[in-house]
Amino acid sequence: MKQKISIQIPVPQQPVIAAATGELKDTDIYNGLRGQNFDEGWKFNKGDVSNGQSTSFNDSSWSDVTLPHDWSIFNSFNQSSAAGGGGGYLDGGIGWYRKTFTAPSNYSGKKVCIEFDGAYMNSQVWINGTLLGSRPYGYISFEYDLTPYLNIGGSNVIAVKLNNNQPNSRWYSGSGIYRNVWLTVTDPVHVAYCGMFVSTPTVNSSSATANVSTKVLNQGSSSKSISLTTTIVDADGNTAATNTASAANIAANGNNTFSQNLTVSNPHLWSPSSPYLYTVQTQVVVDGTVVDTYKSTMGIRYFNFSSTSGFSLNGVNMKLNGVCLHQDLGSLGSAVNYRAIERELQMMKDMGCNAIRTSHNPPDPRLLEICDRLGLMVMDEAFDCWETGKTSNDYHLYFNSWAQTDLQAMVTRDRNHPSIIIWSIGNEIPSPTVATATNLKNWVKAIDTTRPVTWGCFAANMGDAIPQAVANVLDLVGYNYFPYTYDSGHNAHPDWKMFGSETSSAVRSRGVYKTPTNQNILTGSDNQCSSYDNSVVSWGNSAESDYTEINKRNYMAGEFIWTGFDYIGEPTPYGWPAKSSYFGIVDTCGFPKDIYYFYQSKWTTKPMVHILPHWNWSNGTNVEVWAYSNCDTVELFLNGTSLGSKSVGNAGHLSWNVPWSSGTLRAKGTKGGTVVYDEVVTAGSAAKVQLKPDRTSITADGKDLVYIEADITDANGVVVPNAANTVNFSVSGPGTIVGVDNGNATSLESYKGKSRSAFSGKCLVIVQATKTTGQITVTANSNGLSSSSVTVNTTDGPTNEAISAFTQIEAENYNNQTGIQTENCSEGGQNVGYIENGDYVSYSNIDFGSGAKSFQARVASGTSGGNIELRLDSPTGTLVGTCPVQGIGGWQSWITKSCNVNGATGVHDLYLKFTGGSGYLFNLNWWKFNN
Ligand code: GAL
Repeated sequence: MKQKISIQIPVPQQPVIAAATGELKDTDIYNGLRGQNFDEGWKFNKGDVSNGQSTSFNDSSWSDVTLPHDWSIFNSFNQSSAAGGGGGYLDGGIGWYRKTFTAPSNYSGKKVCIEFDGAYMNSQVWINGTLLGSRPYGYISFEYDLTPYLNIGGSNVIAVKLNNNQPNSRWYSGSGIYRNVWLTVTDPVHVAYCGMFVSTPTVNSSSATANVSTKVLNQGSSSKSISLTTTIVDADGNTAATNTASAANIAANGNNTFSQNLTVSNPHLWSPSSPYLYTVQTQVVVDGTVVDTYKSTMGIRYFNFSSTSGFSLNGVNMKLNGVCLHQDLGSLGSAVNYRAIERELQMMKDMGCNAIRTSHNPPDPRLLEICDRLGLMVMDEAFDCWETGKTSNDYHLYFNSWAQTDLQAMVTRDRNHPSIIIWSIGNEIPSPTVATATNLKNWVKAIDTTRPVTWGCFAANMGDAIPQAVANVLDLVGYNYFPYTYDSGHNAHPDWKMFGSETSSAVRSRGVYKTPTNQNILTGSDNQCSSYDNSVVSWGNSAESDYTEINKRNYMAGEFIWTGFDYIGEPTPYGWPAKSSYFGIVDTCGFPKDIYYFYQSKWTTKPMVHILPHWNWSNGTNVEVWAYSNCDTVELFLNGTSLGSKSVGNAGHLSWNVPWSSGTLRAKGTKGGTVVYDEVVTAGSAAKVQLKPDRTSITADGKDLVYIEADITDANGVVVPNAANTVNFSVSGPGTIVGVDNGNATSLESYKGKSRSAFSGKCLVIVQATKTTGQITVTANSNGLSSSSVTVNTTDGPTNEAISAFTQIEAENYNNQTGIQTENCSEGGQNVGYIENGDYVSYSNIDFGSGAKSFQARVASGTSGGNIELRLDSPTGTLVGTCPVQGIGGWQSWITKSCNVNGATGVHDLYLKFTGGSGYLFNLNWWKFNN
């Protein structure tokens, strides 16, 4: 029988290892990496109930949901929805969520807070029947302190009521707790919510100074002497700088903000081409004990906006080649999914995009984490209106009471992301005033002075006095559309630092081509737009035209194109049955439209060529063939016969007029000695469905996704360009269909069905992994066509990267297994802190390099004393060291012990085996080897 004794579980500890950025995947770093995910085990009810906050309310008939959850995306499209076309004809309304959970007894004496990354909208949150607060804005993150109301050791109920009373956003917002929820358990002395601010006031190639300002709260009942040790760790896990702040006395219920300056020598600068990230970690120390550990990413970079030469990053002049994005994720609705956001942003990056505008609201924190990691600069935007609304129930109802709180919450949450280079206080604000603009700007500056503040102004109004006066108080002047106003603005206000905060608004449907190409063809009876860059709204311009206008002016810092991806809602220029946008460079499936390759030809240098349109026409048709390329020349061949070579130069596109005949049209791009091709082939009649998964192996974490494109092809595998066959999907194995789509703005089929008609030859199914590893098989059937299947493996994840033995590695954080979990304890799960004689913890893939000389561990031992045996590859494997630990007498009496090591080289699994007398108990906090 194992001895169970009643002891105080040590305070939560966090990983000391510097996470390589990949390790932060699917975690949220914005509140110090202390939160445990709180997404599972919720109940949901669509519609209002009375007394849903009560602990005794019976929610057994409610649905079981795992967050993030968007209830609106499950709705049928409703032509008379209050959401209107802007909201994608998907109803909102009222919804309730409840979660019943046990607060374990080790929460006693701790601070327990709940954090919502966002809930849409008008949230009210209760704990055990007590209202914690209301938060109208559906795009902002917020936190509540649960501590005073918790039933420790017993059952607790969180209840959340949301009211998406449409119309509010001018686009599809989603409804529900559509972002992640976290539970953060800390010592009463801890870093405040989003309480660390890292800036780099001086940066040059030989050194950078980082200022780390950390707000520490003492929510205990007595005054405490508190100090901080802050460390900057590079991407390889090496310490780049460290500083210990001298102790300050913080009174009970008081706080102190520590300011520390650290110098990083030979800093790696962050940029889109090299998005190097450091990690800052601060440890809060009371009486020699670390009581809280708080982490943040950090990037070192400097940038400048100039009224004459535009934008530069790290001294290098460049254009902001940006896109605007709304937050929905196509058929997933607004329910946040890390992989879905990562896929979107990776596609933008592959297009050569270097900047994202979070139009027109604060994004999910994951988007910023991914932008940091992929190297995408961000314009982080707060609002779409101020005091005057654009729809009857939008933020103007709350602006006066909440604008300062929400804006400062956004800046406080997001300020450590190196990706963010601009704060935006609004988009196309109706009835703006200088007074409000000044307030908003000052509220940002009260938190962060390191980034410029701007807005996006509908530039047709830039001749008016008030927009000009507002522009005068802002750091940057964002122009939405109307490039012909750029020069007049620049000439009249030579000090303005200008950029295209929104450009183009050209519209297109993937695979649809309308001629003549030199005429604007905005609408047609098919409810589709043209992919020849010749469908443009009245306030917009073609992609080529706006690109040219921005790029011929040195003073313009760049542009943010409307939009990178199609989004649900705002189906301009159509109404019902069109329900999603046409503005996207990529459709809602993530299938690129032709214009993707226009931007790629302008924004990337790796040789590429793309031709359009498809090659299924009829005899006698003269087809205008376009090529987008960054090569020197492009030569076109029809069935092997050259139709001539053209040089690319500064052209937006090349074109040939080609009398159609069936076969293969091929473009050959030549750049220096490199040759690239693209071709379109005449398709025969539809014969089969072909599935193309974006990945063949995904993680069995209940979240990861495989995106599978279904192509309707002829017998030879050529996509049939106009095919609209319906494809039925089925799945076996550990996966679930979570979305289907075809990118057709007019399709009213459910995003949550199991079948979908193709649009321009393609549709999409998204399959989500369960938590079970195995093989998912996805099959696609379509009437009259041969079917096909693909298999996708689901694995425990890419955990096989070796971890350096010389980095300090957390052994246990005692906090419900959050953080980096490399250990595997023979005692199992929560009992890692109660290691007894013969128990071990193991770590896979530890890299000892050319040899470890010594070992150190921070341990506490309650009783007699014993040894930590260091064994390789198994609990009985080669013994490379024995670290003696005497009985120290208390579970929190930490002591660092060390021993010599001999014979540990290369990569091994490491077993730390504890030996000692009967009932002997250890606590292991961290360990590392030295060489
Ligand atoms: C802009 C507006 C965007 C979107 C766009 C469509 O004026 O800022 O939110 O509505 O028009 O072209």
